[in-house]
Amino acid sequence: MGLRLGTLSLPSAVLQSPMADCSDLAFRLVSRRRGLGFAFTEMVSAQSLLRRGRKTLDLLKTVPEDRPLGAQLLGKDPSRLAAAAARLADLGCDLIDLNFGCPVKKVVSNGEGAALLKDPDLAERIFAAVRRAVKVPLTVKTRKGFSDASGAEAVELARRAEAQGLDAVTIHGRTQKQMYGGSSDHGAVALVRRAVSIPVIGNGDVRVPQDAVRLREESGCHGVMIGRGGLGNPWLYRRAELAWEGKDRDDREPDRDARRAALLEHFDLEVEHCGERLAALNFRRIGAWYTSGLPGAKAFRTGVYATMDVKLIRRMIEDFFGAAPADSVRTESVDKSS
Ligand SMILES: Cc1cc2nc3c(=O)[nH]c(=O)nc-3n(C[C@H](O)[C@H](O)[C@H](O)COP(=O)(O)O)c2cc1C
Repeated sequence: MGLRLGTLSLPSAVLQSPMADCSDLAFRLVSRRRGLGFAFTEMVSAQSLLRRGRKTLDLLKTVPEDRPLGAQLLGKDPSRLAAAAARLADLGCDLIDLNFGCPVKKVVSNGEGAALLKDPDLAERIFAAVRRAVKVPLTVKTRKGFSDASGAEAVELARRAEAQGLDAVTIHGRTQKQMYGGSSDHGAVALVRRAVSIPVIGNGDVRVPQDAVRLREESGCHGVMIGRGGLGNPWLYRRAELAWEGKDRDDREPDRDARRAALLEHFDLEVEHCGERLAALNFRRIGAWYTSGLPGAKAFRTGVYATMDVKLIRRMIEDFFGAAPADSVRTESVDKSS
């Protein structure tokens, strides 16, 4: 029960959602080693990619183990997006996704991201231009609407994507106005699922494995994308896949040792791929994901903020998990969106 996206045949229907400042190479490798089948880089702006900005190229850093890999483009100009997509295809990306869902004010006020929900004609011109430019699977990720909560805007966009030969659409069941508040509307995913014949990937609020099953039951989606639920929880993708396939009886919560090992590995990969300084800075975020909700997490965070010493950070991880009583380890329902 995998997922077919154009020429790409994925054994698992569970994908990792692109997340700026989160889904870097270390994040993806830790998750893949625990069963994630398909990952996305952090989104890149078409304009910066065409300028070959150093930071943008860093966001696309990958290694052979990091496959199959999708890259996501942000932009609004059809010809620039087409040129940027061609560059991504040349770099070897297995799939290109168009970001039509980013709700951030700076982005939408520039007519990009979720703002494209309000301009289906421009959206369609983008789809056509990018489709002509690349042969690799091409998808779009969007929200259920800009401010209209009915789901009609997502349906319109998905129909136009299908008409221009895109291979799948991902729907996050919130409007731009909602940002990340309230709950994701699986009914809007169902509306899109009924409106098009290309695969529809549901997204929003999958925090525990059974959430993925519920999203499919309530929408009929062909696949599921997991965003925040995967922060500090690299086991969730495989566990959701098992649940999706009705095999959740074999499933177990990761124990304290598994969590300590994953966090140490995540940090070491950060050091390897970003260097010690950036790894120490990124760890302020990463350490918070893995320890959120556990006794002593606040003191741990304070300690982490006070140091840039990678050896000390490793010791702090050992001490934190060594000291925590086994039954105090939280379950996946804790909010990690901070
Ligand atoms: C920190 C953060 C960064 C994100 N960056 C992106 C992004 O670059 N591209 C994108 O399409 N969505 C982005 N998203 C949205 C997620 O991919 C996902 O659609 C959303 O969080 C809902 O799914 P979830 O409930 O599983 O998190 C981001 C979300 C968060 C919390």
